Amino acid sequence: MQDHDLYVSGDPLDRLIAQSRELPSWDLTPRQACDTELLLNGAFAPLDGFMTGDECRSVQDKKRWQDHFWPLPVYLDVSEACAGALEIGDPLALRDQEGVLVAVITIADKFPASAIASDAERNAGSNPVCIGGRLQGIEAPAHHDFKRRRLSPRELRRQFDKLGWRKVLGYATRQPLHQREVNETYNASRKIEANLLLNPAVGAVQPEDALHYAQVHCYEQVLDHFPGQTTDLAILPLYSRCAGLDDALLHALVLKNLGCTHYMVDRGYCAMAETGMNYSQVQEALSAYNQKLGIELVFNERMVYSARRGGYVERATVADGELVNELTTEEFAGRLRSHLAVPDWYTWPEIVSELGKIYRPCSEQGVTIFFTGLSGSGKSSIANAVLVKMMEMGGRPITLLDGDVVRQNLSSELGFSKEHRDLNIRRIGYVASQITKHGGMAICAPIAPYTRTRRDVREMVEQVGGFVEVYVSTPLEICEQRDRKGLYAKARAGIIKEFTGISDPYEEPEYPEVRIDTEGISPEEAAQRVILTLEKLGYIKTI
Ligand code: ADX
Repeated sequence: MQDHDLYVSGDPLDRLIAQSRELPSWDLTPRQACDTELLLNGAFAPLDGFMTGDECRSVQDKKRWQDHFWPLPVYLDVSEACAGALEIGDPLALRDQEGVLVAVITIADKFPASAIASDAERNAGSNPVCIGGRLQGIEAPAHHDFKRRRLSPRELRRQFDKLGWRKVLGYATRQPLHQREVNETYNASRKIEANLLLNPAVGAVQPEDALHYAQVHCYEQVLDHFPGQTTDLAILPLYSRCAGLDDALLHALVLKNLGCTHYMVDRGYCAMAETGMNYSQVQEALSAYNQKLGIELVFNERMVYSARRGGYVERATVADGELVNELTTEEFAGRLRSHLAVPDWYTWPEIVSELGKIYRPCSEQGVTIFFTGLSGSGKSSIANAVLVKMMEMGGRPITLLDGDVVRQNLSSELGFSKEHRDLNIRRIGYVASQITKHGGMAICAPIAPYTRTRRDVREMVEQVGGFVEVYVSTPLEICEQRDRKGLYAKARAGIIKEFTGISDPYEEPEYPEVRIDTEGISPEEAAQRVILTLEKLGYIKTI
């Protein structure tokens, strides 16, 4: 196979770099950087750049790009401001997240993103305008992780040549591999007498995503369990477009470009929930494309562990009444979280300890306790009581982010407009998520009047640990009667504007983990309710 890449070299490269200093530029999102990298290094061959509107439509309607089979649009979405300044024929410099010049695109078309972006992409906030055109590559987007495992098609094909690998089965996966997957894969590659390339699609990696490092470590560990010299591992910056079969077809084309002759798709890869198909239906649907792909599809036989036969066997060979062992992915994750033993037939101890770092039980995870409620509802008093009780119990380091205190330092320049309140809450949420990520406890106590903002904070924190919302639902009349700071009187008198509950909205939480009306109960008692909830949810270590 001919090397196909879009990198420029020699004098033309020097000229391109010199020219690009004057050019307008676009900072690639992490996902766009993945696409650019795969376009430039030829993993997306024969594509020669980002698709035009017509090309996208042809791919969507007929799975064709020019004269070639291609399953999914590869487009570059940019802001109105960026697109507005460009005419057809103009060059635009593309930079990665670190500002490094990666490529120059020559604009061949501008079209609205709404015409092609999938719902998932629109929800993820795609930009409004797409630009299509040829790419000229300058430098690959930088990666600092697992460089040894990030090989271009050219490097991989050279390696296969050097090792004398003629038949190579590419295994596309996104999940860690355990005993069963390794047995199934080895079984499949042995049947066709092929070497094996494990090719996990890792997509756009967030540098702080601990799961990514753990997963790649797991792939590296698993490599040792394949017979030596037969198997290799390369990670691929291909992200899921949540497109089920089309994702699998795209990975197949990439594997062909990487020099694989055969392609095996992992059972979980096509997100059966997305396609609504079981593995045999996926096989049937993919087989329809076998000819067009130019790479042979291979499907693995489902295997199970037979205690009697002392190893993995094809499920089809299991006799009636023969005892076999199986554990679902969820059951495995549950065992990791609960520190229960994972049997050897399921996976290796190194993998358990690697993934055990990620799947921690709730009592070992960080957690944010997020109080919300009107001014004077009692949030701060309860938050302080919870803080003291938790300190007394020991355990996680605790940080209190009280509304008034945050406004004195973290948000000292902000007022009380919707924009400023949102900014304030997002800052609190960000700090809380950092504390939570590192295993601490963040206790936040702002008014946080808007549902949407509270939900965003919850989402951010839940990616790294626990989130417990406590709605202090003391009615406005009571808060106003108490009026400890005299602010309600001032708000009624119109001296303080935009005062929550008086002249500004408070949207009540619908599903808080705890709801406390402080009427008639002490902060002590209220704090007790919060702590009992934490215990019920598993955030407090019990003996
Ligand atoms: S939030 O809306 O951004 O969550 P935050 O909890 O930080 O508010 O600050 C609320 C505190 O600021 C109140 O307890 C009160 O002491 C003070 N405050 C001053 N002006 C206002 C206002 N217009 N609305 C609400 N609280 C105010």
